[in-house]
Amino acid sequence: MKFKTTKYHFDLLNDSSRLAVFLEAINEYEGNTELAYDLGCGSGILSYFLSSHFNEVIAIEVNKQASDCAMENLADFSNVNVVNSDVLECDFEKKADLLVCEMMDTALIDEEQVPVLNHAKQFLKDTGTIIPKGIINSCELVDMEREYLHWDENVNYDVMSDPVIYCEIDFLDEINPEFEATLSIKAKRDGNINGLKITTFTKLNENIVCGPTPMLNPPLLIPFEKQSVKRNDFINVKLKYIMGNGIESIETDILR
Ligand SMILES: C[S@@+](CC[C@H](N)C(=O)[O-])C[C@H]1O[C@@H](n2cnc3c(N)ncnc32)[C@H](O)[C@@H]1O
Repeated sequence: MKFKTTKYHFDLLNDSSRLAVFLEAINEYEGNTELAYDLGCGSGILSYFLSSHFNEVIAIEVNKQASDCAMENLADFSNVNVVNSDVLECDFEKKADLLVCEMMDTALIDEEQVPVLNHAKQFLKDTGTIIPKGIINSCELVDMEREYLHWDENVNYDVMSDPVIYCEIDFLDEINPEFEATLSIKAKRDGNINGLKITTFTKLNENIVCGPTPMLNPPLLIPFEKQSVKRNDFINVKLKYIMGNGIESIETDILR
């Protein structure tokens, strides 16, 4: 099937590793399940996957150009209804068996996954599920060439610690968007550190966990004041951000 897309949604469609894990998780549903909401449907690709498992799929997309593409792409699927709207302003009439929400970004900082799910969960049946199910965030100390906040695009940095899991979120829980913690991370060799690398792993369901792909949560490199460290030193980094409020909300501080 050929999909009409915007430039951004074309890149999302071309990320076959991202699509494969969503397809695998959606394919675990029996046919004839009642209702799924696809929140932020973009080109409609995930609604297309959902259409053979659910009697009704309601796909919501805030971007008019993208929702026009989704409407055209899914016009022949009588059980899929595409709506051009902001999920945060939707009061759905029926409760769903499944919410699919791919508004993911590393540590959920730069997209609306958390506010959208906190709003949409009231329209999920008690027995309902969410794809993805949640995330796991890990961090590492790094000595990075670029001393400013950036996503990992094959840039140079040395990893100076083992990864530490610092946060796990289950999307069925009420999520406090304000994250704040002091991370204690052990340096694994002598040298300099000037940042944190954050990696997000996506739990599609109980059985499928996916690391970063080109368009799903590429690692984020966050700078802090340069320090020299010795092997086995513990470095205490205060990390603060608001999920859904963008990368401008990120703050770091080294505690001495
Ligand atoms: C990462 S894209 C995923 C698109 C599509 N689900 C896919 O997997 O290819 C996230 C989409 O969510 C949409 N979006 C973001 N915030 C939204 C909101 N509050 N209401 C509806 N759509 C939203 C964006 O416009 C974008 O198309």
